[in-house]
Amino acid sequence: MDEVSQTIKTQPDWRYLLAEFYELYRQIPAGGSPRIRSHQRQAREAISRVIKAGAELRLQTAAQKPVTAHLRRALDQGRSGTMASIIRSLDCVADSLSWQYGYEKVPPGLTGTYAYAEIAGPQGPVVTTEIILGVVLFAPGCTYPAHAHQGITESYVCLSGAVSENHQGVYVPGSMIFNPPDHLHRITVGDREPALLAYAWLGKAGDLAGQKMVFSRPRK
Ligand SMILES: [Fe+2]
Repeated sequence: MDEVSQTIKTQPDWRYLLAEFYELYRQIPAGGSPRIRSHQRQAREAISRVIKAGAELRLQTAAQKPVTAHLRRALDQGRSGTMASIIRSLDCVADSLSWQYGYEKVPPGLTGTYAYAEIAGPQGPVVTTEIILGVVLFAPGCTYPAHAHQGITESYVCLSGAVSENHQGVYVPGSMIFNPPDHLHRITVGDREPALLAYAWLGKAGDLAGQKMVFSRPRK
């Protein structure tokens, strides 16, 4: 029997979630930075094209990681704040998310405290070569080691909890962190609550398709 292909039209929870990402990139201020404003506009344009195209939905095998035991708390904490709308939308697809480490060798200490789940990208679940969207979850006290993305412009939006990047600022729900290509960044998470961030990656289709996390060697 032929498998009926699914799209964001037949599975509208995913379309609503994309619309919530679009709203994030419309509502969060650029803080006077033309570079961030341009990134936000490019993200909106890409998301808008994915929605209009009625993109294919190729669900990955649902997968949990130890850190996903903190997901419910992270969603609950985000429900009462400014990010409530996207939190509700994420909750609708939570059972279908495929939580991954993304590294062949997971850095020590990260197996129980970190995982990410893709929402859109070349590997799906919403299939697109224009942008990668996802969420990353950190357990309380997690340090996400220094990494950079070649050829990729990245933004994180804090949805729940609080994080710092490179000890240079504290980001709470509704804040956006902007990481240009090759920018080395390390994230720390408060001791008491998990943190949930949405992310968007923009770059050339080839860079998005071949993207791998890159860790710097730990300094002795
Ligand atoms: Fe990153």
